[in-house]
Amino acid sequence: MGKTYKIAVVKGDGIGSEIVPAGVSVLEAVAAKHNFSLDTTDFSWGAGHYLKHGEFMPSDGIEQLKAFDAIYFGAVGLPAVDDTLPARDYTFKVRTQLEQYVNYRPVKLFSGVKSPLRDKTEKDIDFVILRENNEGEFVQNGKILYPDTPNGVAVDTSMVTRLGVERIAHYAFKLARKRRKHVTNVTKSNTLIYTLGFWDKVIAEVAEQYPDVTYTKMYIDNASASFVLKPEVFDVIVTTNMMGDILSDLGGAIMGSLGLGGSGNINPENNFPSMFEPIHGSAPDIAGQNIANPIGQIWSAAIMLEHLGESEAAQDILAGIEHTTAKGNLTKDLKGNATTSEVAESVVAFIKAN
Ligand code: NAI
Ligand code: MG
Repeated sequence: MGKTYKIAVVKGDGIGSEIVPAGVSVLEAVAAKHNFSLDTTDFSWGAGHYLKHGEFMPSDGIEQLKAFDAIYFGAVGLPAVDDTLPARDYTFKVRTQLEQYVNYRPVKLFSGVKSPLRDKTEKDIDFVILRENNEGEFVQNGKILYPDTPNGVAVDTSMVTRLGVERIAHYAFKLARKRRKHVTNVTKSNTLIYTLGFWDKVIAEVAEQYPDVTYTKMYIDNASASFVLKPEVFDVIVTTNMMGDILSDLGGAIMGSLGLGGSGNINPENNFPSMFEPIHGSAPDIAGQNIANPIGQIWSAAIMLEHLGESEAAQDILAGIEHTTAKGNLTKDLKGNATTSEVAESVVAFIKAN
């Protein structure tokens, strides 16, 4: 018997309780086939937990997570709960306290899925967004004064550090060496002249250490247009926390649905467990109907296995996804009529049969 991985499973809220079990069923199938096993522990944290217990996770929640090899996560947030809490009290907390400074978000057109960019093919849409995941615009360092008076004033401070930029930049250039050897820095340093001017300077310095990788700088406005007009120019994108957040929803849209996007919050040094989650939220509008697309959650399982060193198993999951979409086995968001469980079962069946 091969290795056993200890996985913390955080279903979260909304469609999490439908798509996470779908993803776990795929993980179990691929583990059985590739001779490793998963020791999973469920944590019922999130906005539902907050409604019952007054907190998204217990105060020693981060300490509990440190005992695991990885965290497999759905999404948190419910309409009945203040929507500034899910990020502050769960996602940002895990991402920063476990130093998951790389947010790895691939964008890829699967066969059988019609991209809104109709004449683009699988060859044209295949890139990775690397979102700096610990600092930048989302450090939540600011102040509101006198909000209900004519003197109201609010400030949010963005924070960029040399260490933070260097480490995400090195990750980007190393990843590019395994792909098509092209890094695009998506920035807005023409207007955010201090923080992003510094960001660009540090990335350009790192770029010089990778002469075999092509380096391009592109402004976010042009990059958004290019996602739609010529996605084939991208291979590895490195960008800041907020720009990466926004661009990856656009990436999800050009794949055909937000429900397709998988991601990893990665601590490359493995000092802490990394966390793998779909790019979307808890989709309360479609929860409880067995219609959510589980592919983003399943793809996140593949990214998790790749990180754990189970590359062949990860490839197997991707082949299972591709087979499922190519057959037209699609959920409602992709204009099909397959259920969440049918899509997951189709991926599992492919893995078992091949
Ligand atoms: P959302 O991503 O949950 O939903 C946006 C739209 O995409 C909805 O129409 C939804 O039905 C659809 N959609 C999302 N995932 C889908 C899937 N797998 N299959 C089919 N359709 C899907 O974003 P929204 O509505 O802005 O946020 C809902 C809640 O999720 C909020 O409480 C928000 O704070 C939370 N959220 C949590 C995140 C996290 O935990 N990492 C990330 C983003 C949002
Ligand atoms: Mg987002």
